[in-house]
Amino acid sequence: MTRLSVWTVRTALLYLGLGFLLGALMLLQKGLPLDPGLLRLLPLHVEFVLLGWTLQLAMGIAFWILPRFSQEPRYGSLRLGWSAYLLLNVGVLCAGTGQWLGISPAVFLLGRLAELLACLCFVLHAWPRVKPTGG
Ligand code: HEM
Repeated sequence: MTRLSVWTVRTALLYLGLGFLLGALMLLQKGLPLDPGLLRLLPLHVEFVLLGWTLQLAMGIAFWILPRFSQEPRYGSLRLGWSAYLLLNVGVLCAGTGQWLGISPAVFLLGRLAELLACLCFVLHAWPRVKPTGG
């Protein structure tokens, strides 16, 4: 497993923990009202579990498991891979906290733009590695 996959999968696991914690807090609020503000965590919960956890886990495993090249660099462009990792996490944090705190819509849009660029970097990284084994 590459260092890129280790970081990506570990970050995804972190978001799993945080996303479930936020979900549990919202659930608690529904059964045992503590603070109505807890329900405002919904966009952060959705951002963390859908993109921070699910998408990031898929990316981390793909970086590792897609067919490798027979010559160096064996894992393709690691620069594109790291860019996808960094952009996705900047995007999740900006889009999630931007919605949660209701700060300037520019922060939310910046987050979505970073996520879009992360997807683009991931596709560019993965495309040449999507090939039949031995091909
Ligand atoms: C990978 C796992 C999960 C995913 C993909 C996920 C996704 C979502 C999504 C998309 C929503 C928004 C639904 C809507 O707006 O109609 C949501 C809401 C919610 N989730 Fe999760 N969730 C996950 C795990 C959890 C867990 C483990 C908990 C609780 C411990 C939880 C508690 C909640 C609650 C309380 C809401 C608000 C429901 C409402 O107010 O209608 N979620 N989740």
